[in-house]
Amino acid sequence: MKSVTVSSPGKLMLMGEHAVVYGKPCLSTTIDQRLYATVEATDSNFLEIDAPEVKLEGYKKEIKELTKGKIPKGAEYIEYSIKNLYEKYNLSSGLKIQTKSDFSSEVGFGSSSASSVCAVYGASKIFDLDLSNKDVFDVAYKAVIDIKGVGSGYDIASTIYGGVIYYVTPGKVIRNIQIPELDIIVGYAGYKTVTADVVNMVKALEEKYKFAVSNAYDQMEKIVEEGTKALENSDLETFGELMNINQGYLDAILVNDRVLSDMIYAAREAGAYGAKISGSGLGDCMIALAPKDKKKAVIDAINSTKGKYIELKTNVEGVRVETKK
Ligand code: PMV
Repeated sequence: MKSVTVSSPGKLMLMGEHAVVYGKPCLSTTIDQRLYATVEATDSNFLEIDAPEVKLEGYKKEIKELTKGKIPKGAEYIEYSIKNLYEKYNLSSGLKIQTKSDFSSEVGFGSSSASSVCAVYGASKIFDLDLSNKDVFDVAYKAVIDIKGVGSGYDIASTIYGGVIYYVTPGKVIRNIQIPELDIIVGYAGYKTVTADVVNMVKALEEKYKFAVSNAYDQMEKIVEEGTKALENSDLETFGELMNINQGYLDAILVNDRVLSDMIYAAREAGAYGAKISGSGLGDCMIALAPKDKKKAVIDAINSTKGKYIELKTNVEGVRVETKK
């Protein structure tokens, strides 16, 4: 039977988080930790999933039952994505998906989005569907909304398109930014708050203090526009300053916390051009951008706090076929 192995990368938010949920643009990059999925055609009526990294082995569901009944967490994104693909493109035959991941699903690098995208992209190759990046996006993003109810979809776009993207929800604009190198330094707080919970908390804050929160979103939009120009001109110093200003607005919408803040100030004091939260905040990751000769000092400074440096490369290729049989 036909089989294909595909892979797609994790992501990091560069600028514009939270505001992107409300129609403002954001910038994000891919990282060199990938999720791999081997997708095989079968002659059964089942979707079978093995995802050992999320402790899911031997999971099986009849195609016509997809998304019905109880679904283990590790299967959710793949099951909804396959259901949406099958419905949209009138498919019905059996499929087996085995995943293997480079990255921990505890860090917010987007393992769920990568698994959705690998499932859709891999299955599209099995069934010879000639899908564009945007077609893959539409199917995988619908799964995110079906499951979480909220989310801009920037993570789905990132893992599909690769590199650095400028993104407006719901896939209204997805544009690759050409930049030869982007050496981002990442610090992890050691814990994470569920993204949807932080988004809902900020939503409640906006309802109470609309004048402040929507003003922050308007400013973040301008920061992202200026940040895009700075990246396109490889002006990392300006980009770093804009990261710091963006951080001020993330603080204003109350998604900063002590551990993130300590890493951010430590990075700045060690000579970074800029440092800010990356993603929803209240834990998870911060990022810093530094001149090459300050990189080590910035890493040491992050490691001197309660947070921890994570070594990775950014700006890597998006979803791709690895091998085909
Ligand atoms: O927590 P992360 O890295 O998935 O980032 C969330 C970014 C938000 O803008 C807060 C939410 C979203 O869906 O864009």
